[in-house]
Amino acid sequence: MNMYSYYFLTLAVLLRCFAYTQSVSHPGKCRLVFRSDEVQVICVSVNFKQLPSKAFPGNTTDLSVRFSNLSSITSDDLKILSHLRQLSLIRNQLRTLPADLLLGLSNLHVLDLTGNKLTALSSQVFHHSPLVELTLSDNLLSEIDADCLPVNNSLQRLDLSSNKFSQLPVAFLQRLNNLESLDLKNNQLEELTPGALTSLPKLEALYLENNRLKSLEASAFTGNPNLRQMFLSGNRLENLPAGIFLKQDELVFLDLRNNYLQNLTPGILDGRLYAVLSGNPWHCNSSLAYLWHWLRMNEKQKFHDDKITCQTPEHMKGRNITEIAATDLGIKD
Ligand SMILES: *[C@@H]1O[C@H](CO)[C@@H](O)[C@H](O)[C@H]1NC(C)=O
Ligand SMILES: *[C@@H]1O[C@H](CO)[C@@H](O)[C@H](O)[C@H]1NC(C)=O
Ligand SMILES: *[C@@H]1O[C@H](CO)[C@@H](O)[C@H](O)[C@H]1NC(C)=O
Ligand SMILES: *[C@@H]1O[C@H](CO)[C@@H](O)[C@H](O)[C@H]1NC(C)=O
Ligand SMILES: *[C@@H]1O[C@H](CO)[C@@H](O)[C@H](O)[C@H]1NC(C)=O
Repeated sequence: MNMYSYYFLTLAVLLRCFAYTQSVSHPGKCRLVFRSDEVQVICVSVNFKQLPSKAFPGNTTDLSVRFSNLSSITSDDLKILSHLRQLSLIRNQLRTLPADLLLGLSNLHVLDLTGNKLTALSSQVFHHSPLVELTLSDNLLSEIDADCLPVNNSLQRLDLSSNKFSQLPVAFLQRLNNLESLDLKNNQLEELTPGALTSLPKLEALYLENNRLKSLEASAFTGNPNLRQMFLSGNRLENLPAGIFLKQDELVFLDLRNNYLQNLTPGILDGRLYAVLSGNPWHCNSSLAYLWHWLRMNEKQKFHDDKITCQTPEHMKGRNITEIAATDLGIKD
């Protein structure tokens, strides 16, 4: 270890001690970290029933209360923390949020409510803060009122994963013109309501894995020309309509693992850099020529452990598609 790293290590240890000795006067393990432009309060596994905001520094910019027992929260609990930029209340017992919750929090950009028991959201609940990132993962939501966010909002990242959506919250999504990342994995979506994604022109990442999607419309993603990554694994897709990714010049990563695909429509993967295709019941006859050619041409662009094998017909079962001779498939090389 050279002098410099020793010095920095010592400094880091000292700063940590300093941070710990500044613990707020509430019993339990809250940690306070002062930096030049931020004040963090981090409380993990403290048995709060209510947020003891008055015990926190008035200029707290980043508050995280995780694995606690908060069952309700009010606008008064937060109002005095008007410098908040990030608020995370991960793994609590929140069932509802009052409509005025964020009133006065005009600097709040990041809100994380992962792992609560929210079943519905009050209209206007996110109106008062300029949210850029909103995480509602692992709650009990099946719909979201369009008016939860104002028309001109600046939301860029929305995480609704691991909830109970069986349909997309169409009217709500239509307000999210600045959205870059939408996470809806681990829900119960059976279809993408036509037009639901059309007003997301900046969307770059779409997570739809582990739903129940059976089919997609050819026009499903026409409003999302900037998509770069799309995750569709763990659905029930039997085919992909021609032209479905025609507008996505930027699409470099496509995850289609563990669906019910027996074949791929010619053209679907043209221009794609990476595709993951294992766990599908490929039917190996001459109609598979497009996929066979694509795999040979793009040997490096699929993942090494990606097992792409025939399921049917019986005599081809288990064969690695890249290793099948053209004549066995009944096609020209
Ligand atoms: C926050 O308040 C404390 C105590 O008044 C002060 O020492 C610190 O500089 C302030 N920090 C910021 C980022 O405003
Ligand atoms: C939350 O409440 C439950 C049930 O009363 C209790 O078992 C658990 O220890 C509490 N959590 C914390 C972080 O104190
Ligand atoms: C939304 O923002 C744009 C540009 O900032 C502005 O022109 C427009 O009037 C706003 N619309 C509403 C409904 O606030
Ligand atoms: C390949 O198999 C599929 C599914 O059984 C069938 O629809 C298709 O017609 C076959 N292709 C050819 C060229 O026979
Ligand atoms: C399939 O064959 C290709 C080309 O021979 C090889 O690189 C790849 O490792 C094989 N995949 C499996 C899962 O055996």
